[in-house]
Amino acid sequence: MADDDEYAALLARNWDEVAGRYEEYFVPRFRPWVVATVEAIADTELPGGPILVPCCGTFPELPLLAGRFAGREIVGIDISPGMISRAEQRAVPWSAARAVVQNAAVLDPAWSAACAAVVSVFGLHQLPAPDEAIADWVRALTPGGRLAVAFWPYETDATDPWGLADLLLAGHAPVRERSWEKSLAAAVTAAGATIRRDELVAFEMTHTDAAALWEAMTTAAAGALRATALRHGPEFMERMRQEFLHHAPTGEWRHRRRARLIVADK
Ligand SMILES: C[S@@+](CC[C@H](N)C(=O)[O-])C[C@H]1O[C@@H](n2cnc3c(N)ncnc32)[C@H](O)[C@@H]1O
Repeated sequence: MADDDEYAALLARNWDEVAGRYEEYFVPRFRPWVVATVEAIADTELPGGPILVPCCGTFPELPLLAGRFAGREIVGIDISPGMISRAEQRAVPWSAARAVVQNAAVLDPAWSAACAAVVSVFGLHQLPAPDEAIADWVRALTPGGRLAVAFWPYETDATDPWGLADLLLAGHAPVRERSWEKSLAAAVTAAGATIRRDELVAFEMTHTDAAALWEAMTTAAAGALRATALRHGPEFMERMRQEFLHHAPTGEWRHRRRARLIVADK
């Protein structure tokens, strides 16, 4: 438990440090997936209750959700106070929306069987036990409620920037166990929901060039690259950067990325 708390505190600090740059660089580029995930709860009659948004970051889901579900209570939760202070700013126009610092890996029991929907974008894969977390999110749903969760699956394609970075980092960064990806659907079902969709959703992303993207990957998100930078220091990261640029296309970099979207009904 102490280890879990320590890990959560470190992660929160890391996300605090990148929150401003994340909003600037990644929020616009991730928008198509945020739209797709919000759309996934919009084609059903939701029961009463709040919409919970675990791992909301700066809360880009909110304007879309508030536009679709006027007057509904919408609550973003995130472990990073830096992210939540930006989320609170975003929530100002909507009196029924709020953002709170909480750990989404194990939800507060107050959410149990209380929520009309749980919507989460690009947080699940960062949690220590994503299959247990998604089951917890299902348990937060009231009967008739809907879950929509998007996350980045493990990517081994070297034409994908993150796939390329992972290949270059192999042997230098701690390997994250990914067998949980295979257990997610069973975890959702065992927690009492019926899977409606489980598919890869691809959109295009554009970067000025590979150098700008490397800079964003290492300073605008608290993922594996930033963890490696903190661990191995600037010289090592400069070598990685050179390798990355060597393998990347020159000039503007346009690529498609696939996220996995799981939609389920309680
Ligand atoms: C890639 S950002 C996604 C933010 C937002 N949903 C979006 O689509 O832009 C991932 C977020 O997950 C949060 N996060 C990571 N682990 C968490 C945890 N255990 N509990 C709550 N939030 C967590 C991070 O602080 C970060 O804000």
